[in-house]
Amino acid sequence: MAMSPVHGSSLCKHAVADQASVPKLIDPTRLAPFVDPLPLPEVLHPKPGVPLRIAMRETTQRVHRDLPPARVWTYGNSMPGPTIEARSGEAVQVEWLNQLPTKHFLPIDHHICGAEADKPEVRSVVHVHGARVPASDDGYPTDWFVPGQSRRQTYPNKQDAATLWYHDHTMGIERLNLYAGLFGLYLLRDEHELSLGLPDGEHEVPLVLTDRLLTENGQFYYPVSGVSDAPWMPEVFGDAMLVNGALMPHFEVQPRRYRFRVLNAANGRFFRLSLRGQKAFTQIGSDQGLLAAPVQQTNLFLAPGERADLIVDFARMAGATIELMNDVLPIMQFKVGAGQVQDGSRVPSKLRDVPRAAEASATQTRVLTIDEYADCVATPMLMLLDGKRWHEPVSEKPKLGSTEIWSFLNLTEDTHPIHLHLVRFQILDRRPFDVDQYLESKTIRYTGPAQPPPPHEAGWKDTAQVYPGMITRYIITFEGYTGRYVWHCHLLEHASNEMMRPFEVVA
Ligand code: C2O
Ligand code: CU
Ligand code: CU
Repeated sequence: MAMSPVHGSSLCKHAVADQASVPKLIDPTRLAPFVDPLPLPEVLHPKPGVPLRIAMRETTQRVHRDLPPARVWTYGNSMPGPTIEARSGEAVQVEWLNQLPTKHFLPIDHHICGAEADKPEVRSVVHVHGARVPASDDGYPTDWFVPGQSRRQTYPNKQDAATLWYHDHTMGIERLNLYAGLFGLYLLRDEHELSLGLPDGEHEVPLVLTDRLLTENGQFYYPVSGVSDAPWMPEVFGDAMLVNGALMPHFEVQPRRYRFRVLNAANGRFFRLSLRGQKAFTQIGSDQGLLAAPVQQTNLFLAPGERADLIVDFARMAGATIELMNDVLPIMQFKVGAGQVQDGSRVPSKLRDVPRAAEASATQTRVLTIDEYADCVATPMLMLLDGKRWHEPVSEKPKLGSTEIWSFLNLTEDTHPIHLHLVRFQILDRRPFDVDQYLESKTIRYTGPAQPPPPHEAGWKDTAQVYPGMITRYIITFEGYTGRYVWHCHLLEHASNEMMRPFEVVA
């Protein structure tokens, strides 16, 4: 594209906006709520030595009774894809088959690094988020493969029980591939967790949250900038909240305890979850498994990529209905059976040891900025990690087995959920600082005390909310494998457009 000299910045696309036509969209609040049952994805139990075969394909899925089926891209036959259930210490092999069509149905932006017009439109590579995996099997963004090809990946599962998930990670287009439906859960169990007596079987239920915009005929609509050859949007929010791929479903429960594995698989939406009437629930785990002890909550703010392991006790709600809310709107309904049932489950007051990582154990501190560049009308057009683009040389090279502090200076006005592959970490603290002073003189002036993470964020994490105007510090031990991995913002529109960087674990 030839740049017109009247625009001062190559980021300025507004002057040439050509008014893409937006289809008529549905207002989901006008659809009948709670008419569809909560879909439960199929569960795959891999057998030792026998690889799973999971194909990506185009299919259709009805998100609501009164809408036509939507075109989706799925792992297996549904969105979310099948839940893989693995055991800690038992390796799992998956053969991922790309059987997608060769044309994408969502708007690719060829200006984005990794999605140039000389690349095949449809590409995929699968990453298991939160898994400790050799670099060659991690799903590096440029390791994509095209329709007709497949890739075998091995997951050693040498880590504690956790709510992991798998999703597409293709350079430049993961935002579109996930929006199309390419994600699923990967539950890792271990002996310790199984010994606790937590609710299980039909009383353990996944809740995978996403949001979509829907056209009048029920199709997913991915919003565009209005510039036809540069359709990328800095953020994407839908007004239709889907739980396990269904819009405002209901779920019948017995008056007893349930365990819910909650995943925020949205591109850009943070969910603020609560039960109608601010009824209490219990959080027992976060991204990388159990907390040290259960935490009573009335609401929970979950960023894209984050998970929460929740216990809800419906025993005192027999015969009632109760809604799961996102802010002030219900996103699903629980219908509680009448009467009384035997509940043999337990929630022990101590879940496991989570030793606090000692700051003094770190041998290196890296100060990394989170920056935003706006265009001529102050629309954010580019977000970078430490001011660097994807293609710049690798600058973070932790030593295998060493512990480091990564100190994120968020210079933007948004929270960015920052995720590192391979590792688990703890949040050391968050501390407010003077952003303007930093921008002017690159010096840090704190404006308040450091805040340790609240109990529900004090366990092992792999993605955490890096707040605006704060310095958020992660303490990370680089265990497992050497090799090249990535770290990135989990707002997918950011990650797809340069808010992702390589790091390399060295011997
Ligand atoms: Cu959810 Cu790079 O990952
Ligand atoms: Cu990941
Ligand atoms: Cu971001």
